[in-house]
Amino acid sequence: MTMTDPSTAAAHTAGAPGVSFPPGFAWGAATAAYQIEGAAAEDGRTPSIWDVFSHTPGKVLNGDTGDVAVDHYHRFREDVRLMADLGLTSYRFSLSWPRIQPTGRGPAVERGLDFYRALVDTLLEHGIAPVATLYHWDLPQDLEDAGGWPVRETAHRFAEYAALAARALGDRVPLWSTFNEPWCSAFLGYGSGVHAPGRTNPADALKAAHHLNLAHGLAVGTLRELLPATAQIAVSHNLHLVRPLTDSAEDREAARRIDAVGNRIWTGPLFNGGYPADLLADTAAIVDWDELVRPGDLAEIGRPIDLLGLNYYTPTVVSALHKDTESAEPTHNGGHGDSAHSPWPGAEDVRFHLANDDVTAMGWPIDATGLSESLIGMHRDFGLPLMVTENGAAYEDVVGPDGTIDDPERIRYLQLHLAAVADAIAAGADVRGYYLWSLLDNFEWAYGYSKRFGIVHVDYETQRRTPKSSARWYAEVIRRGGLG
Ligand code: FCB
Repeated sequence: MTMTDPSTAAAHTAGAPGVSFPPGFAWGAATAAYQIEGAAAEDGRTPSIWDVFSHTPGKVLNGDTGDVAVDHYHRFREDVRLMADLGLTSYRFSLSWPRIQPTGRGPAVERGLDFYRALVDTLLEHGIAPVATLYHWDLPQDLEDAGGWPVRETAHRFAEYAALAARALGDRVPLWSTFNEPWCSAFLGYGSGVHAPGRTNPADALKAAHHLNLAHGLAVGTLRELLPATAQIAVSHNLHLVRPLTDSAEDREAARRIDAVGNRIWTGPLFNGGYPADLLADTAAIVDWDELVRPGDLAEIGRPIDLLGLNYYTPTVVSALHKDTESAEPTHNGGHGDSAHSPWPGAEDVRFHLANDDVTAMGWPIDATGLSESLIGMHRDFGLPLMVTENGAAYEDVVGPDGTIDDPERIRYLQLHLAAVADAIAAGADVRGYYLWSLLDNFEWAYGYSKRFGIVHVDYETQRRTPKSSARWYAEVIRRGGLG
């Protein structure tokens, strides 16, 4: 969404001190299968696009892979105990498609499902509500070989996989999410190529976006059929909080384009019955939408959902390219790595700017006003319950001589953003939970193990887990039910 009124931003800067969160608010942390599980070739699991991509030289920093990751597959009981010690009331994780249905076709592998059954049962024993995401970027490589997300059939494969997961875990997982940040899957995976499968074709990126939308809708239909009536269904988007650099008509036009291909490409068909006319016009020369979107697709995609998840890290500040004075070199590629190829079909000329100089180790500017603005805007525009399904920060943590990790910068980041959530709630947004990214240090995609997002430190040599001071701080926030 675009937000242009700076007075709204100023009013939501600090967070009301002492504000408490609603009863039942989910205090969570989030992870993703490929980033933590390891056990890449165990119990029938076959390669996903991330296995192949990370094993391709030059794709991931230092040649890091998720082969072992933080060995959560074998250490999940210890990890759930850690969560319980912190007082988490909920845990958001993802299911690995190639662990459950290795080739993306055919029956489920029971050993793969057993891992998730055991994980979920252990969570429930500790009073922690599981939130399962079906897809956090790990498409079975066999399906990529058959064409991947640019191919329509992949959406049908996904719905079948959703059915396998729902049949096995539906009796014990109360909240399901179809996709995590499909923008990244489509536009980093098939546009800029910084994520798996590393293709760089704007038409394929747009086709992938439609098939991810369709897959979401088909899976919602399947889940509604198979899950108990009490189960809730969500999707998590990294909706970009787009701000024009100046109030000029050119910069506002740049913001409109990014909002279209970054945000409304998802929320249009999900909530408003179709793709926005301006997006179709911006990208008409790249893809034939009439051929891509078949009769009935929009009805599938628009199936009602119960909750919308927002993943928020930083605002997106854009301007027009002034061709007479500026080079057309790309200035920003979506936050997860640089590429000569744009992840913004139809908006390749748009310039990206840092919102300020106060950046995390990812180089992402810290501006919590973007979080409250996003939540308030989503509440206004879509009117359904919301959750912050990811928010957090990477820092270059230092292990002290006594083995402790003091991370005041991360605490400050989290404090500011929780205050922003409280602001949004005070302004009327129905926000049901907050899932900090991340529970554990882990495999940060194209950056490998070089970026640490965890509130729990992991020594990658020994796999030893050590809660950082931010973990103790978060435990105290949870104990008090707010910032207090
Ligand atoms: C998000 C991803 C998550 C993690 C964070 C830092 O875009 O969903 O897996 O990489 O960024």
